[in-house]
Amino acid sequence: MTTASPKIRLLGEGDLDAADRIVRLAFGTFNGLSDPMEFMGDAGYVHTRWKANPASAFAAEVEGRLAGSNFAARWGSFAFFGPLSIDPAFWNRGFAGALIEPVIGAFDQWGVTLAGLFTHAQSPKHIGLYQKFGFRPRSLTLILEKASGQGDGGDGWTRHSRLDAAQRREALGGCRRLTDSVYPGLDVTPEIESIRRQSLGDTILLGSGDVDGFAACHSGAGSEAGSGVVYVKFGAVVPGDRGAFRRLLRAVESFAASIGAARIVAGVNTAREEAYEDVLAAGFRVLRTGIAMHRPNAPGFNRPGVFVIDDWR
Ligand SMILES: CC(C)(COP(=O)(O)OP(=O)(O)OC[C@H]1O[C@@H](n2cnc3c(N)ncnc32)[C@H](O)[C@@H]1OP(=O)(O)O)[C@@H](O)C(=O)NCCC(=O)NCCS
Repeated sequence: MTTASPKIRLLGEGDLDAADRIVRLAFGTFNGLSDPMEFMGDAGYVHTRWKANPASAFAAEVEGRLAGSNFAARWGSFAFFGPLSIDPAFWNRGFAGALIEPVIGAFDQWGVTLAGLFTHAQSPKHIGLYQKFGFRPRSLTLILEKASGQGDGGDGWTRHSRLDAAQRREALGGCRRLTDSVYPGLDVTPEIESIRRQSLGDTILLGSGDVDGFAACHSGAGSEAGSGVVYVKFGAVVPGDRGAFRRLLRAVESFAASIGAARIVAGVNTAREEAYEDVLAAGFRVLRTGIAMHRPNAPGFNRPGVFVIDDWR
């Protein structure tokens, strides 16, 4: 057993298969799966997040062998990191801490006003690890799911991928204005664009003219959703517009039905009290529990009156 400290460097394209294997092994082991490699099925994070931004994907290497990875994502004035995973053969030797340092460096360089992460609320090790870097536990984020049904979302929505280039640019501007009204500087353009460029799903747009709401959705094998699933990576409506939020949930359901996806998965922070109630009222059931940790310890956009779907995984 080696005691060497890891070399931290950028994750390269040649590392991706090994990094993907470690993500499944680490999470599958932590979650007690009999075959840890079955974690996430045919969904994945590593290849798509690396392609989205290779300059914010970090590797820990020991004696030429990949030992773990971590990914930072920037949504304008907000950033988060994950999945952070260390090969179980190297657990409890400070490797995770070493992979959080460059991420904090990126956050500082980007000048974000809020950083966050999603972690296992029941794990003293996880909470303790992130607290060392200034994150503090706040409200639960619950991952919920629902069978997609027939979809009665009507025709008040469009798919971003069906627009021409000029319309897409206009829609992106509308999404940016909307998220800026949720939290100053919040901008999920990178997620919408990465879904489009990598064909990971589609972004549902609500409203004609102005964007009243949108949901950036992953679907299918190789995306963060996996086969048969629509996963709402980020969804939002104008703050306080509860009617639009309910319409957005129905539109996502229609989208799922239209592509033959059997399930919808969406995460909501429970501090978004009305949004959480509406997701429950729409028939979603809790699939997984986690906690949002924030740096600094401020509500950001996890607060009442905010109608946002996301989970920072
Ligand atoms: C979580 C994970 C990344 C941690 O990796 P690791 O290399 O074992 O973690 P580290 O050794 O760097 O850090 C653990 C820290 O938690 C601290 N810690 C452990 N238990 C603690 C407790 N009860 N209270 C406070 N701190 C605690 C340790 O002291 C250590 O800090 P130190 O380095 O200052 O001593 C790894 O176990 C893993 O890959 N797990 C599966 C995937 C996962 O859960 N990823 C994170 C999802 S949010």
